[in-house]
Amino acid sequence: MSQEQQPLEAFASLHLSVILNIIMALAMFFGVIITLTVGWPDWDPETWFQRKGNPNPYAVDRDKSRPDSMTMAVSSKLSLWEGPNAQYAPQNDTGDLIRYGRELIANTAAYLGPGGSVAQITNGMNCQNCHLNAGNKIWGNNYGAVASTYPKFRERSGQVEDLYKRVNDCMERSLNGQALTTGSREMQAIRAYIEWLGKDVPKKGNTQRRGYI
Ligand code: HEC
Repeated sequence: MSQEQQPLEAFASLHLSVILNIIMALAMFFGVIITLTVGWPDWDPETWFQRKGNPNPYAVDRDKSRPDSMTMAVSSKLSLWEGPNAQYAPQNDTGDLIRYGRELIANTAAYLGPGGSVAQITNGMNCQNCHLNAGNKIWGNNYGAVASTYPKFRERSGQVEDLYKRVNDCMERSLNGQALTTGSREMQAIRAYIEWLGKDVPKKGNTQRRGYI
C-alpha cells in the first residue's frame, strides 16, 4: 500500500513546491513593480489624514508641527474638537493678527498685566490659566464654540452678547481688569484668533468636550 503511494506523494510535493515557487516569483515581481511605480507606503500621518479627507491635519497637538496620529485617531472617533494651529495661519497681516491674538491669550500678563508692555490693566493672570493651551484644548475650557455661537443670549446679563462683550467679561471679572475697547489692536487680535480657531465649526454648532467636563 505505502509503496504504491510513494511516487504519488513525491509528485504531489513536487507540484506544491513548484506552485509555491511560482507564487513567490510573482510576489517578488509585483513587489518590484509596485515599489518602482507606486513607491513605498506612505506612513506620514499628516498625508494619511489628508488622504482620509480630514480638512485639518493640525487639529490636534497644537505645539507639534505634525499631528500625533494616535490622538488624532482617538479624537476623530469621539468627534472631539481642536482648532487649527495659529502657527499655520496665513503669512499676512490677518495671520499676524491671529498669532498676536494667540500670544495675548497665552501670555496676557506680559502685555496687559501689572508690568505689561502694552497696558497695565489686568491682575497678572493669563487667559491661558483657565483656557488651556490658548483656548485650544479638549476639556480645557476651549474657545471651540465661540465663533459658531456668538452673538448669543446669556442668562447673566439677560442680553444677547457678542464676542467683544464676552471677552471683556473675562477681562473684567476673571482678570480683575479693565475692558479693552473694541477698536484696539489687542481686542481685534483676540477676536481674529478666536474666530480663526472656530472657523471650521458649523454655525450654531457646538463642540464636544469643550469645557472642563
Ligand atoms: C479665572 C479663570 C478665567 C480666566 C483667567 C479667563 N477666563 Fe474666559 N472663561 C472662564 C470661564 C469659567 C468661562 C465660562 C465657560 C463656560 O461657559 O463653559 C469663560 C468663558 C470665556 C469665553 C466664552 C466661551 C464660550 O464658549 O462661551 C470667552 C470668549 C472667554 N472666556 C475669553 C477669555 C479671555 C479672552 C480671557 C483673557 C483675557 C479669559 N477668558 C480669561 C474663565 C476664565
